[in-house]
This record gives sequence, structure tokens and C-alpha cells, in this order.
Amino acid sequence: MTELSRTIPRHDMSRPTRELGLEVIRSLSDPARAAAESLLAESLRDRWSHVQRVAATAGELADAVGLSQAERDLAVASAWLHDVGYAPALLRSLDSRCLGPTGFHPLDGAVYLYAEGWPDDLVGLVAHHSLADVEALHRGLEPELVQYPDRPGLVRDVLWVADLTSGPRGQRLTIDNAWPTWCCATAETIWSASAWW
Ligand SMILES: [Fe+2]
Repeated sequence: MTELSRTIPRHDMSRPTRELGLEVIRSLSDPARAAAESLLAESLRDRWSHVQRVAATAGELADAVGLSQAERDLAVASAWLHDVGYAPALLRSLDSRCLGPTGFHPLDGAVYLYAEGWPDDLVGLVAHHSLADVEALHRGLEPELVQYPDRPGLVRDVLWVADLTSGPRGQRLTIDNAWPTWCCATAETIWSASAWW
């Protein structure tokens, strides 16, 4: 076992469930925005601009594809929080609690959000966003990442498309210049449904 793997907490499957279920999720997006702003706005201004664009785009895409209110809330909340794993304050927090960090922002974000008690659905969206599994494989972090739930579907695809079509300083991109080798058929369906684009 490597030093790194010893420091990364494994998902505690025996803990009391926080699987809230979409039907009982209420207003995640407002506290998610506040949490993201506190972690990113001052320390990583370009990242904060990017995250604001991702959240706005996620809301627009959610409306375009007809997500339910609860699904839309989850998609937007995950958009606000998907990149908090970059935040210096978050990394210091993980370090002080002996929870890493790994330097892999989807996993660091998920570890932090899990420790802070955010719902598992949202933590899983952050952990696996935008093909994080592929990079985790290369980094040798797949065993840690798969501890968090990955649920394919429209909510996940809304987050991924919103992220991949938002530039590093918050500029809006098109799908062609965002991800030339885009291979997610469901995401292409979302793209086609987005008449506003
Ligand atoms: Fe992002």
C-alpha cells in the first residue's frame, strides 16, 4: 500500500445513510453557491468565474431538457461545487484532518464534501465529473474514486456538458471547441435539445 493510499479515507459504507433521494432534496443550490463562493471567489478568481458560468449553463441546460425541480437543483448545486477541490482552503482543511489531499481535484472535492455531510448524490457527481474516472485511472486513484456513487443520467450529463462548455475564465464555449473528441451520446442529445445555444 502506498503512502498516498493510506492517507485517503475510504467511503464508509457502514455510516448512516445520507442517500437523500431526489424527491426529498431541497434547495441544495443556494448553500452550494455560498460554499463555493467562500472557497473560490477570493483565492481563485478565474476558477470562480468558470464555476459561475458552469452553474448558469447547468440551469439553462436543465430547463432545456426538462429536468424536474429536484433534479435541476441537484445539477446546479453540483455545478457550483464541482471544482472546489482546487481551493487552497479546502486542501489545507483536508491536510489538517489527515484526509489527503491527493492533488486530484474531483477526488479532493468529493472527500471534503463527504466529510462536510453533503448528500451522496451530489458528492458522487463531483467525484466523477467530466470523465474524472479516466484521469483517476492514470493517477492510480481509481480505487478511491469508485468509493463514491456514479449515476449516469441526465443530471450527470447536464453537469458534464456545462463544465466542458465553460472556459477557464468563464467564457462560453461551443461543444466543438470544448471537447473535440466528445463521445457521450447522451450529452450530444442534451446538446441537440438546447435550442438556445
Ligand atoms: Fe470545471
